Amino acid sequence: MICNQKGGVGKSLIADELTFSFERSNIPVAFLDLDNQGGTIHKTSQPDNTLVSVIDTPGALQPQLAEWMRESSVIVIPTRTTSRDIDLLIRMQQIVKVNASDKPVVYVFNGWNRWRASSDFEEWFKQHNVSRNAYVVKLPQSEQFVQAGAAGMSIVKYAKRSNPVLATLNMVNTIRVLAGFSPEDSV
Ligand SMILES: Nc1ncnc2c1ncn2[C@@H]1O[C@H](COP(=O)(O)OP(=O)(O)OP(=O)(O)O)[C@@H](O)[C@H]1O
Ligand SMILES: [Mg+2]
Repeated sequence: MICNQKGGVGKSLIADELTFSFERSNIPVAFLDLDNQGGTIHKTSQPDNTLVSVIDTPGALQPQLAEWMRESSVIVIPTRTTSRDIDLLIRMQQIVKVNASDKPVVYVFNGWNRWRASSDFEEWFKQHNVSRNAYVVKLPQSEQFVQAGAAGMSIVKYAKRSNPVLATLNMVNTIRVLAGFSPEDSV
């Protein structure tokens, strides 16, 4: 499940890329869009032989978030990397602590760049994350994500061997392994 009550942090993009990854490996994947506003390439679907479900959630206050979290096996929390993202990230960490403290959490530092705000954010995170179940992966800011999305494609097929592709593969493979699947064959 991909969640953060903050909007525009990359939840839908990550849900799509994770689903594309399972599809490339011929693993039957269900895609659940709990965000009625859409914004994803995949639409809600559930094959009969589903082995894994990818759940995209809305960027708004969600009374059911705690319940969804308790039913998920891996929690993915994307965040932008500025001081303005910290308050809501702390809220998400608290919801995890109460409802899913035993589950792996993958934090995706999205829009990662070489500017001061990103390194300050990472420094803050290191000091405030005490969970042993937490993993951090980074996705760079890239127009290629936007262009691939507009073409209805995974960035992995759209822009071969670029930095954003390598970061995307690292992200999806980290999540896949935590969910009990093998990593995607290198492309
Ligand atoms: N790393 C990135 N580089 C460039 N553009 C990005 C990146 N991540 C996300 N975007 C773009 O930012 C916008 C918001 O991303 P997305 O829709 O995935 O966020 P969201 O968290 O699902 O938002 P919401 O809370 O509204 O559902 C999209 O247009 C997406 O293509
Ligand atoms: Mg979304």
